[in-house]
Amino acid sequence: MSIKGPLHRLRRWIGNSARLRRGSPSAPKRPLPLPYPVAVQARDVAHEARPEGGGVEGFDTPGALAINRARLEHLAALRLPLAGKSVLDVGCGVGHLAQLFVKLGCRVVCVDAREENIASLRQRYPALTEAHVADVQQVPLSRFGRFDVVFCYGLLYHLEDPVAGLRNLFSVCDGLLLLETLVCDYSGPAVVLVDESLSANQARAGLGCRPSPSWVAMALNRVGFPHVYAPLSRPAYQDFQFAWRDNLDHWRDGHPIRCVFVAARAELPHPQLVPLLS
Ligand SMILES: C[S@@+](CC[C@H](N)C(=O)[O-])C[C@H]1O[C@@H](n2cnc3c(N)ncnc32)[C@H](O)[C@@H]1O
Repeated sequence: MSIKGPLHRLRRWIGNSARLRRGSPSAPKRPLPLPYPVAVQARDVAHEARPEGGGVEGFDTPGALAINRARLEHLAALRLPLAGKSVLDVGCGVGHLAQLFVKLGCRVVCVDAREENIASLRQRYPALTEAHVADVQQVPLSRFGRFDVVFCYGLLYHLEDPVAGLRNLFSVCDGLLLLETLVCDYSGPAVVLVDESLSANQARAGLGCRPSPSWVAMALNRVGFPHVYAPLSRPAYQDFQFAWRDNLDHWRDGHPIRCVFVAARAELPHPQLVPLLS
């Protein structure tokens, strides 16, 4: 294979760089070739506006209500021992999903990074008396107590520091972690960094992630959970219904892709749960 092409391009790149540094009038107008294959657009999150419709109304769209119904039906069908437990709902939004635990007679504490979401939760569900504003990546959840069950649906992929978030969840979890997240379709432990809007149901600072199932299983184990499971069944909603292709996609056929995980401190023999750790 000839190396003339790459060498020639490298010499031209060095020459162009030198001309640019000297401010030569003959500096080329075309951008320099990149030494790495990078495709990133500049963004100024600090000065970005929230998109239209990006307030708490986003929690009540037909799509949001449909996926909530499917998630809760799926969780109820697993028949996990949840009744009467203490539950921490992290990334609770406006409190829709916490109602499942209220109905099961649990003591429920809700946490969300956004003041407006917690204010809306208090208006909608006055019975949820323990609701706090806290960023799970920064505020130790231990200030709210310890819990039999930590419930974390729809949050992990909104974190820019997902391992820090999982460490925090583990630190207050005495029994089960119920986790639902958008994922990327990859068999290794990878995580894709993604831009998100500043809507009330998105990442706090515009930066989220799409971890692969292996990444989630590995991270859950390394932060301390000895047991990590996948339910055999999937919620009856399009985001959960897809075939694996191992190509790093996190969006397919017009929708994102999601999975449910259960992590536990103690072994959880269950006909519907498959252990993910070998
Ligand atoms: C997609 S909503 C999920 C709400 C609810 N759990 C559900 O599944 O319907 C994501 C929620 O996570 C919250 N959130 C985003 N980043 C957070 C963070 N760093 N710490 C705590 N909550 C966060 C958002 O404010 C939003 O309410």
